[in-house]
Amino acid sequence: MVDVAIIGHGVVGSGVAEIILNHKDLLTEKAKNEINLKYILDIRDFENVPYADKFTKDFNDILNDDDVRVVIETAGGATFAYDYVKACLLKGKSVVTSNKELVAAKGAELLKIAMDNNINFLFEASVGGGIPVLRPIAQCLAANDLTEITGILNGTTNFILTKMIKDNMQFSDALSMAQRLGYAERDPSADIDGHDAARKICILASLAFGKHVYPDQIKTDGIRGMLLSDIALNSNMGYVTKLVGNAKVLGNGKITAAVSPAVIKKSDIISSTEDVFNIIKVRGDAIGDVAFYGRGAGKLPTASAVVADVLDCIKHLHARKYLFWDEGDKDYVVNPDTVAFSYLVITDAKNSDAVKSEFAVSDVCEENGNVAFTLKKTAKCDLKAKMEKLGINDYRIFRVID
Ligand code: HSE
Repeated sequence: MVDVAIIGHGVVGSGVAEIILNHKDLLTEKAKNEINLKYILDIRDFENVPYADKFTKDFNDILNDDDVRVVIETAGGATFAYDYVKACLLKGKSVVTSNKELVAAKGAELLKIAMDNNINFLFEASVGGGIPVLRPIAQCLAANDLTEITGILNGTTNFILTKMIKDNMQFSDALSMAQRLGYAERDPSADIDGHDAARKICILASLAFGKHVYPDQIKTDGIRGMLLSDIALNSNMGYVTKLVGNAKVLGNGKITAAVSPAVIKKSDIISSTEDVFNIIKVRGDAIGDVAFYGRGAGKLPTASAVVADVLDCIKHLHARKYLFWDEGDKDYVVNPDTVAFSYLVITDAKNSDAVKSEFAVSDVCEENGNVAFTLKKTAKCDLKAKMEKLGINDYRIFRVID
């Protein structure tokens, strides 16, 4: 029998407890070992759950119990969670977490502690909720030189954009609906301003390219205030509007990474990823493109990935799963605004002639007083400088994903 403990009884933590208790026989069979949920740490009282006897408010109950071999952290944040996870790893307990904020900020350090102690630190649920993506990158795609990752990494914003595109719903109404359905983070700015997706692209890029990418190295733009008219114009140009995370190897030991509103050809598999679903497309030199698709948020999808990691820890109590990356450095991630990409720009139709005279424009579409145009590859900082030279201040930029 292996004792486990859960830190945090929120949406994900309660889902993990339910799966461990409801699937006890199935999990025992798969782990070839009985999983005993011994403690749940939370400062709140939960008297009406069938496992009320397992709650503690004292972290030391878990830390000092040598029978607890696996600790599951679902509390979130990078302050208390960091202290708890680090303490458990230093005590020789394997840790499983769904906490992208923690892994994005401290992943390299915590992986090193796990390696030094010959235990596991696993976090499949931190990216893409229930979608298996980190393990496939670390294991199944290990023979590839991975060069680019592109994805819809936030279910809330994808849900909002889908409601705007399909139901003509205003941004604020769609956000309220996402919050009611429990998709949004406690502070929805983490979703709509792109920070949640940025944390996930940090984790994906760190794992795929081998060196830690920190959240403050990601150029991050969200979808706050996205206009229905822009979404319609993008559609007329043949594109679907999405919030996309991208990380790309540039050569010379450097990468670039960003989260930004983007447009994607309607025929691309990323475009057909709707509602709360996520997709992560990985490019490797041998495999070409491979995509991972599924539910990127929600209680049970996320808990499903957490419990699978717990099983892996139990099956490897005396061995390490290969999952590792090195600390990063400040010059590793190049500002994407200085790298040439394709862009679609929308501005007032009165600027149409000026724009056409200044830019190498490929497609143009005018509608309801706005003009949209796509540009040959250019650096965003040059694009902005040219718009400033033309005296155009009111415009929106979408990266064209190809
Ligand atoms: N708020 C996040 C999302 C939850 O919408 O994707 C999963 O990280």
